[in-house]
This record gives sequence, C-alpha cells and structure tokens, in this order.
Amino acid sequence: MRNQIIKLIPVLAVALVLASCGRDVKTPGRIYMPDMTYSNSYKAYVASDVATPEGNLMSARYPAAKTIPYGYIPNDSAVRSNPAYLMSYVIKNHYTHSDAQWQAEFDRAGGEIKDPLPYTDDNKAEGKRLYDINCTPCHGVKGEGNGQLIELPGGGDGPYTSRPPNYKTRLPQVKDGNIFYVVSYGKNMMGGYGYQLSVKERWQVIHYIKSLAGIEGDATGAGATASAAPADAKKK
Ligand code: HEC
Repeated sequence: MRNQIIKLIPVLAVALVLASCGRDVKTPGRIYMPDMTYSNSYKAYVASDVATPEGNLMSARYPAAKTIPYGYIPNDSAVRSNPAYLMSYVIKNHYTHSDAQWQAEFDRAGGEIKDPLPYTDDNKAEGKRLYDINCTPCHGVKGEGNGQLIELPGGGDGPYTSRPPNYKTRLPQVKDGNIFYVVSYGKNMMGGYGYQLSVKERWQVIHYIKSLAGIEGDATGAGATASAAPADAKKK
C-alpha cells in the first residue's frame, strides 16, 4: 500500500502541473498567488472601475488631498515673496563630486541663504526637540561633539569614526547659510537632513545649535550682519 502511494506521487505531480495550464495560452491558468500576478494598483491610462465624482473613468487622477509633491514650494507669500526664504527651498545639492565643488556650493549657500525665522522661544524650543532626536547621537546634548556614537558613556571611543566639531568652536566661523547647507545636505561623514526635516524645522534646529554655541540671535561669526536677514520675515 505504502509503495503504491509513493509510486503515485510522480503521477499526481504531473497531473497537478498539467491541471494548472489553462486552455487560453494568453492567461496564466491556475494562479497560486493572485495578488502577485494581478496588481491591485490602478494602471496608468487604463479605465478604472471607479468613477470620479465627475463621472470620469480615467485612472490618471489628481493626487490625494493634502499630498505634498516632492520639491514643492509652499504657496505662501511669506515664502515666495522673500527671496532669502525661497532660497532655502530652491538650493539644490548637485551631488558634487569633488571637494572643490562642494566648497563652492557651501560658500554660495553662505552668501545667498538667509535665516527667515524670527528668534522666538517657540522656535528654539522646537529646535531643541528636533535636535535631541536627530543630532545628539553624534553631536552630544550640549553640542560638544561627544554624542554616544562618538564617546561611550563609560569612556572610550564609540563606533563612529568621525568626530563632529564642538559647536562653540565651529559655528562662530560660519554663516547661517553655511550651516543650513550642511544640515540640509551633510558634510563628509555627516548625512543631510533635507529629507527628514522641513525647511522650517532645519532653521529651528539651527536657532538651537547657535544658542548652544553661545551665539545670540541673527549674529553669525563669519561677518553676516543682522540686517542681512530680511526684517519682514514672518513667523513661519
Ligand atoms: C551620524 C553622526 C551625525 C549626526 C546624527 C549629525 N551630525 Fe552634524 N556632523 C557630524 C560630523 C562627523 C561632522 C563633521 C563633518 C566634517 O567637518 O567633516 C558634523 C558637522 C556638523 C556641523 C558643522 C558643519 C561645518 O561647516 O563644519 C553642523 C552645523 C552640524 N553637523 C549640524 C548637525 C545637525 C543640526 C544635526 C541634526 C539635525 C546633525 N549635525 C546630525 C556628524 C553628525
């Protein structure tokens, strides 16, 4: 009996394979995982089975409400009518391949990007919250460059091979726009935060790290004057 069953196995296997073929050569016959064979998503330019409120069956539709397209610049006059604020959105990392190119973009950002946010307690407090989440692992709670990834709590070197500078030493040497550039696009072993933090959030973090470095308000150590920041910048 057992032997007969074993002999039947190849027969059953062949039968199963044949049974899974359909008559129509253009369809896959029996399907083991239909979700993987037929995509649930709508295909572009194929009539949908759900009509829009206007009775339109086209599958290419407006994005869902409140979706934010990549690279979007808010339709807000505080941003659009303020060239310095606008620059925060439009400056692009050109995936610079050489140190010289990187330096040129960094320098350009220092000249062209200005801080659009007023120095308020709210902005600084939100900056601290974001800093504690995103930056402390490397930069440390006080911005001394000794986060847990750099120095182990019990002493000794952490796993990260590159030590960030102490903000007190470094930030007085650069302009707001330079800092914004690094926070957005990174520098050497530091990754950029342009994808994690909005423009406003990046400026809030910058307000906070400047306070860690003992720099007051709009002042920067690299010669940018307070008046360079537009006076009409609204709280955004
Ligand atoms: C994974 C570790 C790491 C994290 C996280 C990190 N940084 Fe850095 N950061 C570095 C390192 C390393 C440097 C030094 C880069 C260099 O000069 O080569 C640096 C440098 C800087 C500088 C100095 C730039 C300059 O021109 O010298 C600023 C400002 C800065 N980081 C801000 C931030 C902020 C703000 C955050 C959080 C949003 C952050 N970093 C998160 C590692 C990190």
